[in-house]
Amino acid sequence: MNEDYYSYVKEWFTKWAPVYDFTDVFASGIRKKVLEFTNAIEGSKILDVGTGTGKQAFAYAKKGYDVVGIDLSEDMLNVANRKNRYGNVQFELADAADMPFKDNHFDVSSVSFALHEMPLTVRQRVLKEIVRVTKTEGIIVIVDYALPENKIGRYLVYHIVRSVEGKYYPEFVKSDLKALLRRLGIKIEKEVSIMLGASRILRGLTRWERNLAHLGSIFSVPPINGRKTLGISTEPSFC
Ligand SMILES: C[S@@+](CC[C@H](N)C(=O)[O-])C[C@H]1O[C@@H](n2cnc3c(N)ncnc32)[C@H](O)[C@@H]1O
Repeated sequence: MNEDYYSYVKEWFTKWAPVYDFTDVFASGIRKKVLEFTNAIEGSKILDVGTGTGKQAFAYAKKGYDVVGIDLSEDMLNVANRKNRYGNVQFELADAADMPFKDNHFDVSSVSFALHEMPLTVRQRVLKEIVRVTKTEGIIVIVDYALPENKIGRYLVYHIVRSVEGKYYPEFVKSDLKALLRRLGIKIEKEVSIMLGASRILRGLTRWERNLAHLGSIFSVPPINGRKTLGISTEPSFC
């Protein structure tokens, strides 16, 4: 099943890479907002997971942070590398579910609009890896799709975004991401809704009152029970 996902992501982003930055006009302003929201101290080492064409990584680099952006798609990284005029950002081809970094390496890990591209099993692994490579009480910033509070807004946003997004979006947006983060020992400190409620930024801290042994048990849960055990909500009434 995960082989499917890996070939799907590579093909999907080979198609999107040449035009991806044109679609980013919809996210204009978000990069700066994420930077402010992250509020990392000077000299921080930042990991940008699923960096794509590097938009968020460059926003961090412009502020002087040391940035590493990783991605599965060579085509997306080629675009990022062509635009790279900064000595303090580097891009690496790597799977976020199995990162080539040692434990406690980064002060901040940031992931923008990548988690909704993954099935639940991969998303869990990626978040677990993010926690592993981020320092104790380091900052984790997640930017991704959400649904507005009101019923009509939810209906419209869900159907519009679903029509343009990849195949894992429906499950992602209906899942309880905050419950999953909490189970991984991430304390969510701040949250802001963006794009009229179609997305949100979450800022958390790693390893607060965390018991690493407990993480092992989360990931040994067979996928068939995953929805229940991980607090994933059932289909909402709007779809
Ligand atoms: C929608 S793009 C977002 C790019 C960028 N973060 C942004 O905000 O514009 C999602 C990116 O996640 C990458 N991705 C998906 N699964 C990944 C994985 N397991 N490891 C690394 N990158 C992954 C894709 O290749 C793609 O470039």
